[in-house]
Amino acid sequence: MKNRLPDSGAKYMIVGGRRLYGELQVMSAKNSILPLIACSVMTEGEVFLTRCEMTSDAVNMADIVRSLGGKCSFRDGGIYIDCRDLSSCRVGSELTGRLRSSVFILGPLLARAGSAEICYPGGCDIGPRPIDLHISGLRALGAQISENGDKVSARGALHGARIELPMPSVGATENIMMAASRAEGVTVVCGAAAEPEITDLQNFINACGGKVRGAGTRRLEIEGVKRLHGATFAPSGDRIAAGTYMTACAICGGEVTVTGANPAHLASVTGILRRAGAEVTELTNGATVRSDGSPRAPGRIETAPYPGFPTDLQSPLTALAALSRGTTYIIENLFENRFRHIPQLRKMGADITVCGRAATVRGRRLNGSDVEAEDLRGGAALVLAALGADGTSTVCGLSHIDRGYYDLGGKLSSLGADIRRLP
Ligand code: EPZ
Repeated sequence: MKNRLPDSGAKYMIVGGRRLYGELQVMSAKNSILPLIACSVMTEGEVFLTRCEMTSDAVNMADIVRSLGGKCSFRDGGIYIDCRDLSSCRVGSELTGRLRSSVFILGPLLARAGSAEICYPGGCDIGPRPIDLHISGLRALGAQISENGDKVSARGALHGARIELPMPSVGATENIMMAASRAEGVTVVCGAAAEPEITDLQNFINACGGKVRGAGTRRLEIEGVKRLHGATFAPSGDRIAAGTYMTACAICGGEVTVTGANPAHLASVTGILRRAGAEVTELTNGATVRSDGSPRAPGRIETAPYPGFPTDLQSPLTALAALSRGTTYIIENLFENRFRHIPQLRKMGADITVCGRAATVRGRRLNGSDVEAEDLRGGAALVLAALGADGTSTVCGLSHIDRGYYDLGGKLSSLGADIRRLP
């Protein structure tokens, strides 16, 4: 899938070698907010999602809702969505091409309006990202779906079904859950994803009057209801942003407390940072990381569906491995093309060899260089590597980073990093 986000040409200028000290609060998880905005299309009342930042993915999702005739605004530190009046059930390629999560609108729109037409989604280029499981799931619920050129058209009344997912796709689980919550009868999804974002979606639907059970396990049971009303909802804190800041501290040295996230959601990254020599103290709402700034290789890191180590933190951890003493083996099991940051890390002097889905990272000192972000988490990895490198780096391609981190540079700067955003 192509990234169809305009790039402003902005870049970060980063001088490496500063220790990080202080406290940061992460906001609601980007990957929770996106399906929740889409799900709000099915509600007959006002929705307020608390603690939401204007990442470009959230802004683009809001634009999609507005294009359908809904109201969506960022105020009071969150997002208000009101979809009582919708005037369209079509989303064109200019909007869907901006983000992968545009596909989330398909299930809710179909459930609400009985028909929906969207163009194929865009998003980070991290390998093939088919939507076949979304489509087969909606078909099992009774939708008639045709794919024509770059358009997916769906229509029909939805009914409950038993759906077996061949892999625990987060997005397909969410699309099916949303559509089934307004279908006639009961749907059982086996092989579902169990990420915290799925639990957020279940809790949101139930807060709106829906009946969903089983989130956090591989089996979901969704009893369709006729109406969903509005609600105020607090999504869980962004575990991937929290893991990124924790990794930054492990690289740079210092002491950073990250709050706003559930420590249970951070367990896999906490384990790896401890293996890298950082001291991590779990708090009720986050974690404190202390590091002497000379990490050792954490050994083998393998990405897996939750509660395994998240693919979204693989790239930031690759930056840590590149700067550690010793050799780290990284296996990326989720996405084929999630090593795009590695050629850029090599420009900084990293010693990394890639063979298929495995990367062997022999840690060493890195030198500042001019590098380019090519996807969201890979971009964050380059920023982290630059913070730990000797000398000055520039990181361009910030439109990728802005998808999922709101003011990454400002936040790192508040901890003492020497990072400036140049227009
Ligand atoms: C979600 O993407 C996240 N995005 C991703 O975060 C995350 O990397 C990914 O889950 C895995 O945890 C959001 O939640 C918005 P999947 P999603 O469907 O739903 C295959 C970030 O950096 N698959 O669980 O698109 C697919 O190719 C982003 O914040 C199919 O084959 O991921 C992949 O190999 C990037 N057919 C695997 O399943 C389908 O129809 C897992 O993908 C769907 C997926």
